[in-house]
Amino acid sequence: MSSISIIGLGTMAGALAGRALAGGNTVEVIGRDEAKAKELATALGAGATAGTFGATPAGDLVFLALPYAGAVPVVTHYGDALAGKVIVDVSNTSTADATGPATPDGTSGAQEIAEAAPASATVVKAFNTVFGHVLARGGPLDVLLAGDDARAKASVSAFVESLGLRPLDAGGLAMARWLEGTGLLMISLARNGLGTFDFSLGVTVSG
Ligand SMILES: NC(=O)c1ccc[n+]([C@@H]2O[C@H](COP(=O)([O-])OP(=O)(O)OC[C@H]3O[C@@H](n4cnc5c(N)ncnc54)[C@H](OP(=O)(O)O)[C@@H]3O)[C@@H](O)[C@H]2O)c1
Repeated sequence: MSSISIIGLGTMAGALAGRALAGGNTVEVIGRDEAKAKELATALGAGATAGTFGATPAGDLVFLALPYAGAVPVVTHYGDALAGKVIVDVSNTSTADATGPATPDGTSGAQEIAEAAPASATVVKAFNTVFGHVLARGGPLDVLLAGDDARAKASVSAFVESLGLRPLDAGGLAMARWLEGTGLLMISLARNGLGTFDFSLGVTVSG
């Protein structure tokens, strides 16, 4: 069982929190609007609590369920309150026309977060290749993740398994750029060839 905090109160936060509680984990939800955070915690039930925005999160895993543009400012605002935490970044980035990443070449949202976070915190990219409404429904899904710290990735992987999902380690944090690109690819597939957002991206081993 994991103890998680989720900063953000939108689609991804609600889906993660719901699945996490169903998997027997402890969940704290945190938002810049404390009344809204309390409302979400009450709606979730199962012992979910509402934390204080900017204070040390209760969870060992701290999910950032925020738009890309909000993630670094929030991590900077938290400062040392995130010391020692495993920060899980679920964000996707894109240009306004959704044809490429918003980050400069050679980096990613997750790497920018790692630069802004306290040195003792570790960042893992995960869940950005799963649509929130698909996650909320559960079922067998692959959760691609990337990070430089093996122990942090093991913690996130154990959490993913508690949701009944399969963690797939894509490598070091430098791979976050390509995971973010994969998130963008999924949106483009939904808008073009597939014509629906009701799908998941998985990996099948052949042979
Ligand atoms: N939705 C999906 O299917 C999906 C799938 C994969 C990845 N993602 C990624 O997950 C992230 C969250 O997406 P979402 O769909 O959950 O978004 P969302 O429903 O719009 O929720 C975003 C949350 O972030 C909060 N927020 C925004 N800016 C903030 C700031 N500067 N400081 C503090 N809180 C801030 C919002 O707070 P307020 O309520 O106060 O506005 C809201 O609670 C995004 O990066 C997205 O790309 C989404």
